[in-house]
Amino acid sequence: MKLFLDTANLAEIRTMWEIGILDGVTTNPSLVAKEGRVFEDVLKEICALGVPSVSAEVVATEKEGMLKEGRYLAALHPSIYVKCPMTSAGLAATKVLAAEGIRVNMTLVFSANQALLAAKVGATYVSPFIGRLDDHGEDGMALIRDIVQIYRNYHFATQVLAASIRHPVHVLDAAKAGADIATLPYGVMEKLVTHPLTDIGLARFLKDWEKVPKSVRVSPSDR
Ligand code: G3P
Repeated sequence: MKLFLDTANLAEIRTMWEIGILDGVTTNPSLVAKEGRVFEDVLKEICALGVPSVSAEVVATEKEGMLKEGRYLAALHPSIYVKCPMTSAGLAATKVLAAEGIRVNMTLVFSANQALLAAKVGATYVSPFIGRLDDHGEDGMALIRDIVQIYRNYHFATQVLAASIRHPVHVLDAAKAGADIATLPYGVMEKLVTHPLTDIGLARFLKDWEKVPKSVRVSPSDR
């Protein structure tokens, strides 16, 4: 499963990119607004790092406006994927953009039938928002399982991108359900790396290492 960061913060993206565990980035208008920066500048800087998939959302609500914005965003860099909302206009725009070779991430998906429609119009990614469904008293992960099943039944090429992830168990369950991608807030990605037993184990190894005669082993800094 690919792991994306759900952020428009360059420092966060750079940190995970340098570790080497980042496959892509998703942004949305709310995340961009938090940075207080020009949208295009942020996108270009993320792409310049070499991130191969960077989702950028249109804010038009009519088909023609979405097409104009989508073409504009896609032309900024080859790594840009255009996010269109799951509306009638969004579906119509996705169909046209996909036919032009522009990769679309269909966002704000909250039902399996919506995901079926996204696949039918040729979306490259479908983004079910699992955390917001959980917040609403529904089972977000059941939606991921349903979409994965439907796409397998009909051999759709659309990839399932689990979005609105709140904690590491969401990531684990999305992976078990067969999601192609999960997009994570920075704090959740950090939690995937760490485990208290790793820290305790490392501290113990280093302490024991002090007992090793240094004349027969090189010190860690000299290795
Ligand atoms: O970027 C789309 C999605 O991941 C938003 O998540 O936390 O605002 O529900 P959230």
